Amino acid sequence: RDFRRAQNIEELREMARRRLPNFSFEYVEGGADDEFTLKRNRSIFESVTLQPRTLRDVGQRSLERSFFGRTAQLPFMIGPTGFNGLLTRDGDLHLARAAADAGIPFVLSNASTTSIEDIAAVDGIRAWMQIYLYRTRDHVAKLVERVKRLNLEAIVVTTDSAIFGNREWDKRNYVRPLQLDLRNRLDVLCHPEWIWDVLVPNGVPRFRNLGDLLPPGKDSVKGAASALAAELDPTLSWDDIAWLRDIWHGKLIVKGMIHPDDARLALQYGVDGVVLSNHGGRQLDGAVSALETLPEVARINQGRMQIFLDGGFRRGSDIAKALLLGASGVLIGRAGLYGLAAGKGPGAAHAIGILRTELDRTLGLLGCSSLEELTYDLIHSAHWRAL
Ligand code: FNR
Repeated sequence: RDFRRAQNIEELREMARRRLPNFSFEYVEGGADDEFTLKRNRSIFESVTLQPRTLRDVGQRSLERSFFGRTAQLPFMIGPTGFNGLLTRDGDLHLARAAADAGIPFVLSNASTTSIEDIAAVDGIRAWMQIYLYRTRDHVAKLVERVKRLNLEAIVVTTDSAIFGNREWDKRNYVRPLQLDLRNRLDVLCHPEWIWDVLVPNGVPRFRNLGDLLPPGKDSVKGAASALAAELDPTLSWDDIAWLRDIWHGKLIVKGMIHPDDARLALQYGVDGVVLSNHGGRQLDGAVSALETLPEVARINQGRMQIFLDGGFRRGSDIAKALLLGASGVLIGRAGLYGLAAGKGPGAAHAIGILRTELDRTLGLLGCSSLEELTYDLIHSAHWRAL
Protein backbone atom coordinates (compact mmCIF):
# COMPACT_ATOMS: atom_id res chain seq x y z
CA ARG A 1 0.00 0.00 0.00
CA ASP A 2 1.01 3.58 -0.64
CA PHE A 3 2.37 5.21 2.52
CA ARG A 4 0.39 8.37 1.70
CA ARG A 5 -2.76 6.43 2.57
CA ALA A 6 -1.59 5.84 6.13
CA GLN A 7 -4.06 7.55 8.48
CA ASN A 8 -1.83 7.43 11.50
CA ILE A 9 1.61 6.50 12.78
CA GLU A 10 0.51 2.96 13.62
CA GLU A 11 -0.34 2.36 9.96
CA LEU A 12 3.07 3.67 8.91
CA ARG A 13 4.57 1.23 11.40
CA GLU A 14 2.74 -1.66 9.72
CA MET A 15 4.09 -0.54 6.33
CA ALA A 16 7.59 -0.23 7.75
CA ARG A 17 7.34 -3.75 9.13
CA ARG A 18 6.55 -5.09 5.68
CA ARG A 19 9.24 -3.06 3.90
CA LEU A 20 12.14 -3.81 6.23
CA PRO A 21 14.01 -7.06 6.72
CA ASN A 22 13.14 -8.63 10.08
CA PHE A 23 16.47 -7.78 11.76
CA SER A 24 16.20 -4.14 10.87
CA PHE A 25 12.58 -3.75 12.00
CA GLU A 26 13.25 -5.55 15.26
CA TYR A 27 16.28 -3.32 15.87
CA VAL A 28 14.00 -0.27 15.65
CA GLU A 29 11.14 -1.81 17.59
CA GLY A 30 12.82 -3.57 20.44
CA GLY A 31 13.15 -2.58 24.08
CA ALA A 32 15.18 -3.96 26.97
CA ASP A 33 14.40 -7.10 28.99
CA ASP A 34 10.64 -7.68 29.31
CA GLU A 35 9.81 -4.37 27.62
CA PHE A 36 7.70 -3.16 30.57
CA THR A 37 9.02 0.36 30.07
CA LEU A 38 8.56 0.18 26.31
CA LYS A 39 4.88 -0.68 26.81
CA ARG A 40 4.48 1.89 29.58
CA ASN A 41 5.71 4.59 27.20
CA ARG A 42 2.51 4.02 25.20
CA SER A 43 -0.02 3.08 27.87
CA ILE A 44 0.80 6.05 30.09
CA PHE A 45 -0.92 8.46 27.70
CA GLU A 46 -4.22 6.69 28.26
CA SER A 47 -4.21 7.71 31.92
CA VAL A 48 -4.08 11.44 31.15
CA THR A 49 -7.72 12.43 30.67
CA LEU A 50 -8.71 15.86 29.44
CA GLN A 51 -11.49 18.30 30.21
CA PRO A 52 -11.77 20.54 27.15
CA ARG A 53 -13.20 24.07 27.13
CA THR A 54 -15.86 25.00 24.64
CA LEU A 55 -17.25 28.16 22.95
CA ARG A 56 -13.81 29.75 22.76
CA ASP A 57 -13.44 30.63 19.04
CA VAL A 58 -10.66 28.38 17.81
CA GLY A 59 -10.93 29.51 14.20
CA GLN A 60 -7.27 30.61 14.08
CA ARG A 61 -4.72 28.25 15.58
CA SER A 62 -0.94 28.34 15.84
CA LEU A 63 1.39 25.45 16.64
CA GLU A 64 4.51 27.59 16.91
CA ARG A 65 6.86 27.20 19.84
CA SER A 66 10.06 28.97 20.74
CA PHE A 67 13.10 26.85 21.53
CA PHE A 68 16.01 28.85 22.95
CA GLY A 69 14.41 32.05 21.75
CA ARG A 70 13.99 30.88 18.16
CA THR A 71 10.67 29.90 16.66
CA ALA A 72 9.97 26.35 15.54
CA GLN A 73 6.82 25.71 13.51
CA LEU A 74 5.86 22.77 15.71
CA PRO A 75 6.53 21.86 19.35
CA PHE A 76 8.34 18.65 18.46
CA MET A 77 11.51 17.64 16.64
CA ILE A 78 13.24 14.60 15.20
CA GLY A 79 15.22 12.86 17.96
CA PRO A 80 18.60 11.16 17.47
CA THR A 81 18.60 7.58 16.23
CA GLY A 82 21.68 5.67 15.07
CA PHE A 83 22.05 3.42 12.02
CA ASN A 84 19.32 5.21 10.02
CA GLY A 85 21.13 4.18 6.83
CA LEU A 86 19.95 0.63 7.52
CA LEU A 87 16.32 1.68 7.02
CA THR A 88 16.85 3.38 3.69
CA ARG A 89 19.84 4.86 1.85
CA ASP A 90 20.75 8.30 3.24
CA GLY A 91 18.11 7.89 5.93
CA ASP A 92 19.47 10.78 8.03
CA LEU A 93 19.41 13.15 5.08
CA HIS A 94 15.79 12.29 4.28
CA LEU A 95 14.77 12.87 7.89
CA ALA A 96 16.78 16.10 8.10
CA ARG A 97 15.17 17.48 4.94
CA ALA A 98 11.72 16.56 6.18
CA ALA A 99 12.47 18.36 9.47
CA ALA A 100 13.82 21.43 7.67
CA ASP A 101 10.75 21.58 5.42
CA ALA A 102 8.48 21.35 8.47
CA GLY A 103 10.44 24.08 10.29
CA ILE A 104 11.52 21.90 13.22
CA PRO A 105 14.94 20.95 14.64
CA PHE A 106 16.70 17.75 13.65
CA VAL A 107 18.98 15.96 16.12
CA LEU A 108 21.72 13.91 14.44
CA SER A 109 22.90 10.78 16.25
CA ASN A 110 26.56 10.29 17.08
CA ALA A 111 26.13 6.83 15.51
CA SER A 112 24.68 8.21 12.28
CA THR A 113 25.47 7.07 8.77
CA THR A 114 25.56 10.66 7.47
CA SER A 115 28.21 13.20 8.49
CA ILE A 116 27.29 16.26 10.49
CA GLU A 117 28.79 18.34 7.65
CA ASP A 118 26.32 16.87 5.14
CA ILE A 119 23.42 17.51 7.53
CA ALA A 120 24.52 21.10 8.17
CA ALA A 121 24.44 21.68 4.39
CA VAL A 122 20.71 20.85 4.15
CA ASP A 123 18.68 23.89 3.09
CA GLY A 124 16.98 25.61 6.02
CA ILE A 125 18.19 23.03 8.56
CA ARG A 126 18.20 23.64 12.31
CA ALA A 127 20.55 20.82 13.33
CA TRP A 128 21.55 19.75 16.84
CA MET A 129 24.30 17.18 17.39
CA GLN A 130 23.83 14.27 19.79
CA ILE A 131 27.02 12.89 21.28
CA TYR A 132 28.02 10.03 23.51
CA LEU A 133 30.91 10.63 25.88
CA TYR A 134 32.98 7.77 24.53
CA ARG A 135 36.09 6.68 26.46
CA THR A 136 38.28 8.24 23.79
CA ARG A 137 37.59 11.82 24.90
CA ASP A 138 39.82 13.04 22.12
CA HIS A 139 37.13 11.88 19.69
CA VAL A 140 34.49 13.81 21.63
CA ALA A 141 36.65 16.95 21.64
CA LYS A 142 37.20 16.66 17.88
CA LEU A 143 33.50 16.19 17.26
CA VAL A 144 32.75 19.25 19.38
CA GLU A 145 35.26 21.19 17.24
CA ARG A 146 33.41 20.07 14.09
CA VAL A 147 30.12 21.20 15.58
CA LYS A 148 31.67 24.58 16.46
CA ARG A 149 33.07 25.00 12.96
CA LEU A 150 29.59 24.41 11.53
CA ASN A 151 28.16 26.94 13.96
CA LEU A 152 25.43 24.60 15.16
CA GLU A 153 23.09 25.69 17.90
CA ALA A 154 23.14 22.79 20.35
CA ILE A 155 24.86 19.65 21.56
CA VAL A 156 22.69 16.94 23.07
CA VAL A 157 24.73 14.65 25.31
CA THR A 158 23.16 11.26 26.01
CA THR A 159 23.80 10.00 29.53
CA ASP A 160 21.62 6.90 29.85
CA SER A 161 23.94 4.61 27.92
CA ALA A 162 27.05 4.37 30.10
CA ILE A 163 26.16 0.68 30.09
CA PHE A 164 24.40 -0.90 27.14
CA GLY A 165 20.79 -2.05 27.68
CA ASN A 166 19.79 -5.67 27.23
CA ARG A 167 18.04 -5.92 23.87
CA GLU A 168 17.36 -9.54 23.30
CA TRP A 169 15.81 -9.20 19.85
CA ASP A 170 19.13 -8.01 18.51
CA LYS A 171 21.05 -10.77 20.24
CA ARG A 172 18.69 -13.38 18.83
CA ASN A 173 19.07 -12.16 15.27
CA TYR A 174 22.85 -12.36 15.21
CA VAL A 175 25.28 -15.21 15.71
CA ARG A 176 28.13 -12.76 16.35
CA PRO A 177 27.96 -8.98 16.68
CA LEU A 178 26.24 -7.90 13.48
CA GLN A 179 26.67 -11.30 11.84
CA LEU A 180 23.09 -12.27 11.00
CA ASP A 181 21.98 -15.83 11.57
CA LEU A 182 20.87 -17.99 8.66
CA ARG A 183 17.13 -17.32 9.17
CA ASN A 184 17.71 -13.57 8.97
CA ARG A 185 20.06 -13.83 6.01
CA LEU A 186 17.36 -15.68 4.11
CA ASP A 187 14.85 -13.08 5.24
CA VAL A 188 17.06 -10.30 3.84
CA LEU A 189 17.05 -12.10 0.48
CA CYS A 190 13.25 -11.90 0.55
CA HIS A 191 13.56 -8.07 0.56
CA PRO A 192 15.21 -7.32 -2.81
CA GLU A 193 13.95 -3.72 -2.84
CA TRP A 194 15.70 -3.08 0.49
CA ILE A 195 18.90 -4.75 -0.75
CA TRP A 196 18.83 -2.61 -3.85
CA ASP A 197 18.17 0.54 -1.87
CA VAL A 198 20.47 0.04 1.11
CA LEU A 199 23.25 -2.35 0.12
CA VAL A 200 23.79 -2.30 -3.64
CA PRO A 201 25.11 1.19 -4.40
CA ASN A 202 27.79 1.55 -1.71
CA GLY A 203 27.76 -1.65 0.33
CA VAL A 204 26.95 -1.75 4.04
CA PRO A 205 26.39 1.82 5.37
CA ARG A 206 29.29 3.45 7.22
CA PHE A 207 29.42 5.57 10.34
CA ARG A 208 30.22 9.11 9.30
CA ASN A 209 30.93 10.84 12.57
CA LEU A 210 33.23 8.32 14.18
CA GLY A 211 36.18 8.48 11.80
CA ASP A 212 38.79 9.09 14.46
CA LEU A 213 37.38 6.36 16.72
CA LEU A 214 37.39 3.57 14.18
CA PRO A 215 40.43 2.45 12.18
CA PRO A 216 40.27 3.13 8.41
CA GLY A 217 38.15 0.52 6.65
CA LYS A 218 36.52 -0.51 9.95
CA ASP A 219 33.80 2.08 9.94
CA SER A 220 31.03 0.03 8.35
CA VAL A 221 28.12 -0.52 10.71
CA LYS A 222 28.91 -4.21 10.40
CA GLY A 223 32.51 -4.10 11.55
CA ALA A 224 32.26 -1.43 14.20
CA ALA A 225 29.67 -2.64 16.68
CA SER A 226 32.06 -4.22 19.14
CA ALA A 227 34.52 -1.35 18.87
CA LEU A 228 31.70 1.04 19.73
CA ALA A 229 30.43 -1.07 22.63
CA ALA A 230 33.95 -1.00 24.06
CA GLU A 231 33.88 2.78 23.88
CA LEU A 232 30.87 3.12 26.22
CA ASP A 233 32.20 4.58 29.46
CA PRO A 234 30.67 3.29 32.70
CA THR A 235 32.65 5.86 34.72
CA LEU A 236 30.61 8.79 33.36
CA SER A 237 29.77 11.41 35.96
CA TRP A 238 28.77 15.04 36.31
CA ASP A 239 32.48 15.91 36.09
CA ASP A 240 32.24 14.94 32.43
CA ILE A 241 29.33 17.31 31.93
CA ALA A 242 31.43 20.05 33.55
CA TRP A 243 34.25 19.21 31.11
CA LEU A 244 31.86 19.42 28.17
CA ARG A 245 30.36 22.68 29.47
CA ASP A 246 33.91 24.03 29.52
CA ILE A 247 34.71 23.23 25.88
CA TRP A 248 31.23 23.93 24.42
CA HIS A 249 29.63 27.34 24.82
CA GLY A 250 26.59 26.77 22.61
CA LYS A 251 23.37 25.32 24.01
CA LEU A 252 24.01 22.18 26.04
CA ILE A 253 21.21 19.66 26.48
CA VAL A 254 21.50 16.55 28.66
CA LYS A 255 19.43 13.65 27.35
CA GLY A 256 18.50 10.49 29.21
CA MET A 257 17.79 11.64 32.76
CA ILE A 258 14.44 11.00 34.37
CA HIS A 259 14.90 11.59 38.14
CA PRO A 260 13.90 15.05 39.41
CA ASP A 261 17.11 15.26 41.48
CA ASP A 262 19.12 14.90 38.27
CA ALA A 263 17.21 17.88 36.89
CA ARG A 264 18.30 19.84 40.01
CA LEU A 265 21.91 18.89 39.27
CA ALA A 266 21.50 19.86 35.62
CA LEU A 267 20.53 23.35 36.83
CA GLN A 268 23.63 23.52 39.02
CA TYR A 269 25.89 22.47 36.15
CA GLY A 270 24.59 25.22 33.93
CA VAL A 271 23.02 23.16 31.19
CA ASP A 272 20.48 24.85 28.95
CA GLY A 273 18.04 22.01 28.53
CA VAL A 274 17.26 18.41 29.39
CA VAL A 275 15.56 15.59 27.55
CA LEU A 276 13.70 13.45 30.08
CA SER A 277 13.95 10.01 28.52
CA ASN A 278 14.21 6.30 29.13
CA HIS A 279 15.77 5.86 25.67
CA GLY A 280 12.58 4.52 24.16
CA GLY A 281 12.51 1.65 26.68
CA ARG A 282 15.85 0.38 25.41
CA GLN A 283 18.00 0.88 28.51
CA LEU A 284 16.65 0.33 32.07
CA ASP A 285 13.54 -1.82 31.96
CA GLY A 286 11.23 -0.82 34.79
CA ALA A 287 12.05 2.86 34.42
CA VAL A 288 9.10 5.24 34.62
CA SER A 289 8.01 7.11 31.55
CA ALA A 290 9.39 10.61 31.12
CA LEU A 291 5.85 11.99 31.23
CA GLU A 292 5.53 10.85 34.85
CA THR A 293 8.39 12.87 36.29
CA LEU A 294 7.80 15.82 33.97
CA PRO A 295 5.42 17.72 36.32
CA GLU A 296 7.90 17.62 39.21
CA VAL A 297 10.84 18.52 37.00
CA ALA A 298 8.87 21.44 35.58
CA ARG A 299 8.10 22.62 39.12
CA ILE A 300 11.77 22.44 40.15
CA ASN A 301 12.88 24.15 36.98
CA GLN A 302 10.70 27.26 37.24
CA GLY A 303 11.22 28.03 33.57
CA ARG A 304 15.03 28.19 33.73
CA MET A 305 16.02 25.31 31.41
CA GLN A 306 14.06 24.02 28.43
CA ILE A 307 12.43 20.74 29.39
CA PHE A 308 12.09 18.28 26.53
CA LEU A 309 11.03 14.67 26.76
CA ASP A 310 10.57 11.60 24.61
CA GLY A 311 9.22 8.07 24.60
CA GLY A 312 6.15 6.65 22.90
CA PHE A 313 4.82 9.75 21.13
CA ARG A 314 2.61 8.43 18.31
CA ARG A 315 -0.34 10.85 18.29
CA GLY A 316 -0.73 14.60 18.25
CA SER A 317 -2.79 14.25 21.43
CA ASP A 318 0.23 12.61 23.14
CA ILE A 319 2.24 15.73 22.36
CA ALA A 320 -0.55 17.97 23.67
CA LYS A 321 -0.56 16.03 26.94
CA ALA A 322 3.17 16.55 27.41
CA LEU A 323 2.77 20.29 26.78
CA LEU A 324 -0.14 20.41 29.25
CA LEU A 325 2.13 18.84 31.85
CA GLY A 326 4.83 21.46 31.39
CA ALA A 327 7.11 20.36 28.53
CA SER A 328 8.88 22.85 26.28
CA GLY A 329 8.82 20.32 23.47
CA VAL A 330 8.93 16.68 22.48
CA LEU A 331 11.35 14.46 20.54
CA ILE A 332 10.04 11.75 18.29
CA GLY A 333 12.07 8.61 17.64
CA ARG A 334 10.31 5.64 16.14
CA ALA A 335 7.37 7.65 14.70
CA GLY A 336 9.73 9.36 12.24
CA LEU A 337 11.57 6.10 11.53
CA TYR A 338 8.34 4.33 10.58
CA GLY A 339 7.61 7.07 8.06
CA LEU A 340 11.16 6.93 6.74
CA ALA A 341 11.10 3.15 6.32
CA ALA A 342 7.62 3.22 4.76
CA GLY A 343 8.29 5.99 2.24
CA LYS A 344 11.82 7.49 2.48
CA GLY A 345 11.83 11.32 2.55
CA PRO A 346 8.16 11.77 1.66
CA GLY A 347 7.29 9.07 4.20
CA ALA A 348 9.14 10.93 6.95
CA ALA A 349 7.37 14.13 5.90
CA HIS A 350 4.06 12.26 6.04
CA ALA A 351 4.79 11.13 9.61
CA ILE A 352 5.49 14.73 10.66
CA GLY A 353 2.36 15.86 8.78
CA ILE A 354 0.17 13.31 10.59
CA LEU A 355 1.40 14.54 13.97
CA ARG A 356 0.93 18.18 12.93
CA THR A 357 -2.68 17.59 11.79
CA GLU A 358 -3.50 15.60 14.90
CA LEU A 359 -1.98 18.17 17.23
CA ASP A 360 -3.80 21.00 15.49
CA ARG A 361 -7.11 19.14 15.81
CA THR A 362 -6.46 18.31 19.48
CA LEU A 363 -5.63 21.94 20.21
CA GLY A 364 -8.92 23.09 18.66
CA LEU A 365 -10.94 20.39 20.38
CA LEU A 366 -9.44 21.45 23.71
CA GLY A 367 -10.70 24.97 23.03
CA CYS A 368 -7.25 26.49 22.55
CA SER A 369 -5.83 28.71 19.81
CA SER A 370 -2.15 28.50 20.71
CA LEU A 371 0.16 26.21 22.63
CA GLU A 372 0.44 28.82 25.40
CA GLU A 373 -3.22 28.14 26.22
CA LEU A 374 -2.45 24.50 27.05
CA THR A 375 -2.65 24.78 30.81
CA TYR A 376 -2.91 22.35 33.71
CA ASP A 377 -6.63 22.95 34.30
CA LEU A 378 -7.44 21.11 31.05
CA ILE A 379 -6.30 17.87 32.67
CA HIS A 380 -9.02 16.02 34.52
CA SER A 381 -7.39 12.96 36.09
CA ALA A 382 -6.95 13.52 39.82
CA HIS A 383 -3.70 11.54 39.76
CA TRP A 384 -2.06 13.88 37.27
CA ARG A 385 -3.49 17.01 38.82
CA ALA A 386 -1.92 16.08 42.12
CA LEU A 387 1.58 15.81 40.62
C1 FNR B 1 17.42 5.40 19.61
N1 FNR B 1 17.76 6.33 20.59
C2 FNR B 1 18.99 6.94 20.54
N2 FNR B 1 19.30 7.94 21.42
C3 FNR B 1 20.48 8.59 21.35
O1 FNR B 1 20.72 9.51 22.13
N3 FNR B 1 21.40 8.23 20.39
C4 FNR B 1 21.18 7.24 19.50
O2 FNR B 1 22.03 6.95 18.66
C5 FNR B 1 19.95 6.55 19.57
N4 FNR B 1 19.66 5.54 18.70
C6 FNR B 1 18.39 5.00 18.66
C7 FNR B 1 18.06 4.10 17.66
C8 FNR B 1 16.76 3.60 17.58
C9 FNR B 1 16.39 2.65 16.48
C10 FNR B 1 15.78 3.99 18.52
C11 FNR B 1 14.36 3.50 18.45
C12 FNR B 1 16.12 4.88 19.53
C13 FNR B 1 16.74 6.81 21.56
C14 FNR B 1 15.91 7.93 20.93
O3 FNR B 1 16.66 9.11 20.80
C15 FNR B 1 14.68 8.28 21.79
O4 FNR B 1 15.07 8.49 23.12
C16 FNR B 1 13.58 7.21 21.74
O5 FNR B 1 13.54 6.60 20.49
C17 FNR B 1 12.24 7.84 22.06
O6 FNR B 1 11.22 6.91 22.07
P1 FNR B 1 10.25 6.63 20.80
O7 FNR B 1 9.80 7.95 20.24
O8 FNR B 1 11.06 5.85 19.82
O9 FNR B 1 9.15 5.82 21.41
